Amino acid sequence: MKSGFFFCVLLSLLAQLSQAQYHYQNLMNYLESRMAAMEERIALWHEQNNRYNSDIKKFRQQAADLLEKLGRDHEKLRQDLEGAGVRVDRVEREMDYIETKNIPKPCVKVADKTVEQKAVEKQQKKKDQMFELTVCDQIVSNIRAMKILKRLGSPKGIWTRDSRTAKIYVFNGTSEDTLYEFSTVKELSTSSGLSTGKQITLPSAWNGTGHTVYDGFLYYISERSELQVIKYNLENSSVVDRAVLPVQDNMSVYGLNPETLVDLFADEEVLWALYAVGDTINLAKMDSDTLDIEQMWDTACPRKNAEAAFIVCGTVYVVYNTRPPSRSRVQCVFDVNEMVMGGEAPLLYFPRRFGAHSSLKYNPVERQVYAWDDGYQIIYRLSLQKKLWALVPPPEE
Ligand SMILES: *[C@@H]1O[C@H](CO)[C@@H](O)[C@H](O)[C@H]1NC(C)=O
Ligand SMILES: *[C@@H]1O[C@H](CO)[C@@H](O)[C@H](O)[C@H]1NC(C)=O
Ligand SMILES: *[C@@H]1O[C@H](CO)[C@@H](O)[C@H](O)[C@H]1NC(C)=O
Ligand SMILES: *[C@@H]1O[C@H](CO)[C@@H](O)[C@H](O)[C@H]1NC(C)=O
Repeated sequence: MKSGFFFCVLLSLLAQLSQAQYHYQNLMNYLESRMAAMEERIALWHEQNNRYNSDIKKFRQQAADLLEKLGRDHEKLRQDLEGAGVRVDRVEREMDYIETKNIPKPCVKVADKTVEQKAVEKQQKKKDQMFELTVCDQIVSNIRAMKILKRLGSPKGIWTRDSRTAKIYVFNGTSEDTLYEFSTVKELSTSSGLSTGKQITLPSAWNGTGHTVYDGFLYYISERSELQVIKYNLENSSVVDRAVLPVQDNMSVYGLNPETLVDLFADEEVLWALYAVGDTINLAKMDSDTLDIEQMWDTACPRKNAEAAFIVCGTVYVVYNTRPPSRSRVQCVFDVNEMVMGGEAPLLYFPRRFGAHSSLKYNPVERQVYAWDDGYQIIYRLSLQKKLWALVPPPEE
């Protein structure tokens, strides 16, 4: 009986068990299907995520491209703006110089005084800077100031200062046999005329406005029978030497100053000569002792509309103007050392005036130009800066 009872219990247990198993199986099936569904969704998310990621990547790429393009456009815009700036500058200058044609003459007295005070202070500073000239590596960056000193008779002429002896020499006109010596600028500016200076009469007449004085020697151009440069000792009034210059057809070096066939500039050891060959201005380097020509260059600066030139540190600055006269400007530069690049040389405008320069003589000690402008004696003070190449350290040995 007992075994029957147990069998019954076992059966019911088994039944319960199988029922439990059934439930369990159901649960498992359910869970599995949920898992599958979730896996599906996860897979979907992954896919979406990937797509999203690649979309983001694409977007980033596009954004980067866009930014780059924007950057390029900006650069171009900047360049355009710069170009426009330069053009505005140029137009401004052109207007400046058109204006000068219509404005009345500047008041000489007022300009004289204000510039004079400044000049005195600056002169004091400059005194210490004498003879740093041997290291000559500078270009003219600006015409800083102007002083109108006097008005002596003739519209054309030259005045210059011996940078060694500091004496002033005045040549009134374009062909004479006399010149005048003054011991200081002040002596000239306060003089009532040229007669208060020391009168020097030369053995032959000078022609044009190309003369120069250095260390007590006058180098002047004479056109008696042929074109000569004459070296003259001003101390004991004697001709030291003379040489014939190879100038073609009596052609003037500057188109706007037909009387000047040759323009001379003397410094420590060199005598420079500017003269005409064809349509351009040529430069000769002469030995100031022997008057030998050592080297010649074609500066490629046109003679047409040139009125004068000056030389600073082996660089020729040719000054141009128009007829009738307007605003003078340096528009062509030639460096014998080929160190001043075209772009480096600035376009220099002279202060507003209308005259026409008949000569420009640079004094390296004072860093100023003695100019004769339509009968006025003017001093232009220059700002110099190092040539760009001088900033590059020399190659090591
Ligand atoms: C300079 O020369 C001109 C003529 O060439 C003359 O009229 C004038 O008086 C001269 N000036 C002086 C200060 O001698
Ligand atoms: C040079 O000057 C002298 C003296 O004034 C004059 O007689 C001569 O005609 C001048 N020469 C030229 C080419 O102007
Ligand atoms: C002038 O002086 C120099 C030296 O200073 C001399 O050689 C020359 O002979 C002198 N000339 C005259 C004419 O006195
Ligand atoms: C140059 O000028 C001089 C002096 O005026 C004259 O004697 C000579 O004949 C001229 N030469 C030429 C080529 O015109």
